[in-house]
Amino acid sequence: MLGASGYAGRELCALILRHPRLSLAYATANSQKGETAFLPGGGSVTFDAADAIDLDRAKLAFSALPHGASAEWVARAREAGVKVVDLSADLRIGNGASTGIPYGLTEWNRDAVRGAAVVANPGCYPTSALLAILPLLTQGLVAPGAVINIQASSGVTGAGLTARLDLLFGEITENYRAYGVGNSHRHLKEMRAMVEGKDVELLFTPHLLPVARGILSTITVPLRAALPDVLAPFRAQYASEPFIEVTPDLPELRQVNGRNVVRLTARAVDGLRAPTLQVFSAIDNLMKGAAGQALQNANLMLGLEEPMGLPQ
Ligand SMILES: NC(=O)c1ccc[n+]([C@@H]2O[C@H](COP(=O)([O-])OP(=O)(O)OC[C@H]3O[C@@H](n4cnc5c(N)ncnc54)[C@H](OP(=O)(O)O)[C@@H]3O)[C@@H](O)[C@H]2O)c1
Repeated sequence: MLGASGYAGRELCALILRHPRLSLAYATANSQKGETAFLPGGGSVTFDAADAIDLDRAKLAFSALPHGASAEWVARAREAGVKVVDLSADLRIGNGASTGIPYGLTEWNRDAVRGAAVVANPGCYPTSALLAILPLLTQGLVAPGAVINIQASSGVTGAGLTARLDLLFGEITENYRAYGVGNSHRHLKEMRAMVEGKDVELLFTPHLLPVARGILSTITVPLRAALPDVLAPFRAQYASEPFIEVTPDLPELRQVNGRNVVRLTARAVDGLRAPTLQVFSAIDNLMKGAAGQALQNANLMLGLEEPMGLPQ
């Protein structure tokens, strides 16, 4: 586990320690090297400096390093013959990475992930939004030329374990604000890449919620025609998916936090001339949005059962 002391890394260490078939070969940190941390759900881990480990002690490495720092370690791991799931954006589709590295949105890329030596795990916001949008796009239900409006709110762990004035408790608590406005957030690159070839545009506005974890996305989609059953496209797409819950109720963060699931629903919008759908999607940014999906991909890459060791 590279970058084990961060929010996503600690979550992954905890999942690995409880996994029936995996064991933790090493857990690296930068400034926290040598320190011991308690893990979510119990257990603890002591961090080694990244330069002090033998990468080839593992069959597969997870990299939860920051963008920019990760690609170099993925290359080192590959030189040591180790498979890698990279949680950073460095190798994701749309981010200038070389082709041939599957984008690990598992439910949409399972076959490519299964045979891959390296998988680029998606960002948290893109996981929440793409799982909601792709069924409508692939079933030809979206109005040509539509602007799909993604309004999403994330808990503060989405920003990583960084010391920043705007992320201090006093700035976050009892507060709520947009950021990355003007359609400028870095996650747009991978979302746009995943809808390439479809006649739609994406408008994405992230917000910061005064909670530790969880993302709720409200996505407004202009349709070709009103849908007789607004849940049918999602139920048809995800009928056999263990980690996607299509529900008539509006999803809430408390229903998904700590679980490797996305919870989805949809509603027809009243009072507009054009037929319009709203899709609501909730995930835990650290689980289905990061560590959980990374383990889902790793299970496939290692020939294990996909849901093994994952909290449903
Ligand atoms: N947080 C989320 O919700 C989320 C969701 C999806 C994807 N991701 C992605 O997953 C990755 C990890 O995210 P995070 O939120 O867990 O980040 P984080 O909390 O900032 O943790 C980063 C980790 O990398 C280590 N590190 C930092 N710079 C390093 C360097 N130059 N060399 C070696 N180790 C270094 C840190 O160790 P020290 O702290 O000891 O220095 C820490 O273990 C990021 O690329 C992020 O974009 C995060």
